[in-house]
Amino acid sequence: MTTRAVVTGVGHYLPDRVVENAEFEATLDTSDAWIRSRSGIERRHFAAEGQTTSDLATRAARAALTDAGLEPDDIDAIIVATSTADLTFPSVATMVQAELRMMHGFAFDVQAVCAGFIYALSTANSMIISGQAKRILVIGAETFSRIMDWTDRGTCVLFGDGAGALILEPQEGEGTGADRGILATDLNSDGRYRDILYVDGGVSTQNTGFLRMQGKEVFRHAVEKLASTATTALAKAGLNSDQIDWVVPHQANIRIIAGTAKKLGLSMDRVVVTVQDHGNTSAASIPLALSVGKARGQIKPGDLVVTEAIGGGLAWGAVVLRW
Ligand code: UT7
Repeated sequence: MTTRAVVTGVGHYLPDRVVENAEFEATLDTSDAWIRSRSGIERRHFAAEGQTTSDLATRAARAALTDAGLEPDDIDAIIVATSTADLTFPSVATMVQAELRMMHGFAFDVQAVCAGFIYALSTANSMIISGQAKRILVIGAETFSRIMDWTDRGTCVLFGDGAGALILEPQEGEGTGADRGILATDLNSDGRYRDILYVDGGVSTQNTGFLRMQGKEVFRHAVEKLASTATTALAKAGLNSDQIDWVVPHQANIRIIAGTAKKLGLSMDRVVVTVQDHGNTSAASIPLALSVGKARGQIKPGDLVVTEAIGGGLAWGAVVLRW
């Protein structure tokens, strides 16, 4: 028998305020047509004034708990993937723990920018397999609107705010690719590329800073590295891309999503796409897409799902799981 970390609940939260592409036309030299054709984005949600990442994360967590039919007391660990924490410390995860009135277990954040949820899932998987925790709430939550330079049309039209959450718990499998749960993970980073996607501020530089991106350069790395990490993770699970039911990619750009699917030999009807409605929500994009994909009736129990993401670092990776 092999212990597998199985998804038993999923949920998400999007702030009320929806901003259509056309809204940017008033303040920037841009157009709805440019944003749609270059990125696939049509609209995004922005957090209300005073609304923080922990607030979004807590709402997504509650939705996942409801989906699983569980109470906060049933959870023994919380991992939040975020690059836009409310405060320098404590972690968003401990804030969620307090909001949920969970008075046991442990909580911490993981920061791998847009690949953050992949890193958090992989960490949670290791903790479940090693018996360090039983039921883990894994959350991706971001307020990237707080680190936008509103005069930079190359970045500020691309990002949005939101949160998604999963609950993972152990189940015994046969040790084959037919098991439910996480079957393989693949993590990568290469710090030589820090200058193509970064925030030009932080605690030890004494200002919050704004997101800076050389979009074309990031794009150049994205398709190849995403297809490669997905293929590696599938091989670790003893599976190949023909067996995929759904690819749930990081939602940054429809052209990256389509290019990666093509490299994997998959048609777009096997890809969950939410980028048109959410924009790029960094670490929140995959759990948001998993939750929306399930709600749409796309992802069903037993489906083979491959998630993949790349972002600042560069950091990238993939997780293969059977829903
Ligand atoms: O989640 C983390 C990972 N991030 C990503 O995956 C993002 C990866 N990159 C991208 O998605 C794309 O590179 C972008 C959507 C950011 C840009 O698309 P592109 O096709 O690579 O365009 P570009 O940066 O080469 O820009 C083409 C032109 C430029 O004008 P010139 O130099 O050709 O005159 C830009 O100045 O488009 C211009 N441009 C815009 N025009 C209207 C850039 N942003 C805008 C804009 N509206 N918002």
